[in-house]
Amino acid sequence: MAAPLFLRTPIFHTLTSHTLNNHFTLPSTFNFKSLSILTFSKMERSEIVEQVQENLSVKKVFVAGATGSTGKRIVEQLLAKGFSVKAGVRDLDKARTTFSSNNPSLQLVKADVTEGSDKLAEAIGDDSEAVICATGFRLGWDVLAPWKVDNFGTVNLVEACRKRNVNRFILISSILVNGAATGQLLNPIYILLNVFGLTLVAKLKAEQYIRKSGINYTIIRPGGLKNDPPSGNVVMGPEDTLFKGAISRDQVAEAAVEALALPEASFKVVEIISSPDARKRPYHDLFGSISQR
Ligand SMILES: NC(=O)c1ccc[n+]([C@@H]2O[C@H](COP(=O)([O-])OP(=O)(O)OC[C@H]3O[C@@H](n4cnc5c(N)ncnc54)[C@H](OP(=O)(O)O)[C@@H]3O)[C@@H](O)[C@H]2O)c1
Repeated sequence: MAAPLFLRTPIFHTLTSHTLNNHFTLPSTFNFKSLSILTFSKMERSEIVEQVQENLSVKKVFVAGATGSTGKRIVEQLLAKGFSVKAGVRDLDKARTTFSSNNPSLQLVKADVTEGSDKLAEAIGDDSEAVICATGFRLGWDVLAPWKVDNFGTVNLVEACRKRNVNRFILISSILVNGAATGQLLNPIYILLNVFGLTLVAKLKAEQYIRKSGINYTIIRPGGLKNDPPSGNVVMGPEDTLFKGAISRDQVAEAAVEALALPEASFKVVEIISSPDARKRPYHDLFGSISQR
């Protein structure tokens, strides 16, 4: 049984979106650990504050695909923001070289998403409060790999969350997953990505599973991923609206980490690319501009 969770408590949402914002402007780089040292002068809110402080002090996020190019950025950004991280990896040796070993807030656990929900539930444990999935099949000879990883693997992870009562799930998916239904069948990127075992179709099926699961989800569909630092600002659109474009993995990781604490990101599918012409907008504004469907 997971601990009482700030991410799923209505009280947290109420506080962040209303009460707290009436008194503080939360920057997008807000560090939740710092909340515990804020003193609130209005005592009528003290009970709420105590509750939130208590909940915020126990915050651990499980990251699947943590040694991937986006996954490791997510881990690094979570740690930088004061979260504890359980990094789910296939290869512990690789993970030890990917991450600095002396960070007490980082725990490495073996987690292959193709090995079923029971093992994943064990890896997630009873102390993870949210799961971020940044897995993606690795190119190889197994033509079924996209289905095993990007579809069934993600479904396994959702089931593992159910077993552990984890009620916050953030998925890194992809633009164009719904290309067949949105007039993109001849889009070269749609064709290219589906040549490898119908990857986008596999991802779309996993998305559909999450959306029906009842879990509080945020599905982030990025454009083409780049390792370079950001060269523009984030453009966020509703599902099935961005059919080309690219974005730095740093920004994808940032969007995933920000989504964790933003009620505006709940139960949403968003698409993101970056553009040098775009205005810089805070994440609560970006997520807030997308409607739930
Ligand atoms: N590349 C693009 O331009 C692009 C565009 C849009 C969306 N996306 C999607 O964005 C996500 C992140 O992409 P990326 O390029 O940053 O990822 P990546 O570097 O390819 O990393 C993929 C991660 O998934 C892990 N993984 C593979 N099979 C697994 C399994 N059976 N169990 C557990 N973990 C497994 C890998 O583990 P190992 O480290 O052990 O190999 C790796 O950590 C993916 O879903 C990708 O499809 C990519």
